[in-house]
Amino acid sequence: MIELAPSILSADFARLGAEAQAAVEGGATVLHVDVMDGHFVPNITIGPPVVASLRKVSKVPLDCHLMIERPDEFIPAFAEAGADWISVHQEACIHLDRILHLIAAHGCKPGVVINPATPVHALDEVLPLVHHVLVMSVNPGFGGQTFIHSSLKKIELLSSIRESRRLGFRIEVDGGIHHETVADVVRAGAEILVSGSAIFEHGVPSENARQLLKSALDAAKQPVQGLSSALAGGAAGDGGNSLSLP
Ligand code: DX5
Ligand code: ZN
Repeated sequence: MIELAPSILSADFARLGAEAQAAVEGGATVLHVDVMDGHFVPNITIGPPVVASLRKVSKVPLDCHLMIERPDEFIPAFAEAGADWISVHQEACIHLDRILHLIAAHGCKPGVVINPATPVHALDEVLPLVHHVLVMSVNPGFGGQTFIHSSLKKIELLSSIRESRRLGFRIEVDGGIHHETVADVVRAGAEILVSGSAIFEHGVPSENARQLLKSALDAAKQPVQGLSSALAGGAAGDGGNSLSLP
C-alpha cells in the first residue's frame, strides 16, 4: 500500500493546522514531523509541543523523524505528545536495539533511519524489530534538496531482504521526492513517501498532494521496467550521487 506522508517542515508554521488538514484532504494518510536539534543535523526545528498541537487537529498517524543526538532521552516526551511512529537514526544510536524497544514500550511504532552514506546492512540485526525503515534520499537537515540517486539501490535491497527473510517492515523514503522522482522510488519498492517542498512550497497543498499520490499510484501499477536504467542513474533527478548541499 502506497502512502503519502507530507513533511510539515516546508509548511507555513503560522497556519500549521490548516496546512496539515489540506494535505490530508489531498490524500495524505500520514504526517511526517521532522525534529532537528542543531547537533545531529545543522538545523533546528520543533519538539513535542508542536506534536501535541498537531495531535489535536489531525487523526492520521504522526510520523516523528528524530534527527537528534541521544534520542532515548526524548522518546517519552514525544510519545506523551501523541506521536504514533518514532524513528531514530542508526548513526545517532550506540544502543539501537535498546532504543527501538524503548519506542515500542512507549506504545509507538519504532522506525530506523539511514543516511545516504550508511549501508543497508548496518540494519541487519534490527530489521525484525522495526515497523518501518526510512531511507534518506538527501543528507538530513533541510527541505528542498536534490534527490540522491543511489538511494534507489538501497530501497531495492531492503525490499529483497524483506522478502527473503520474510519480515514485515515497511519502506519509507525521505528527501527530494517530487513528480520527477516519485515513480522511481515506488518502482524500487518504497511505500511511504515523505515529501515536503513539493507539497507545501508552491501552489495548493491539497492539489499537490493529490497529484503526487496519483503519480505514485500510477507508478505502482506499471510493470517494473526501466528500473535498471534508473538505478544506473539515467532516469530521473540529477543522474548521480551529487552532493546535496542546502
Ligand atoms: C530532511 C527531512 C525531510 C525534508 C523533505 O532532513 O527529513 O523530511 O523535509 O523535504 P523535501 O521533500 O523538500 O526534500
Ligand atoms: Zn524527515
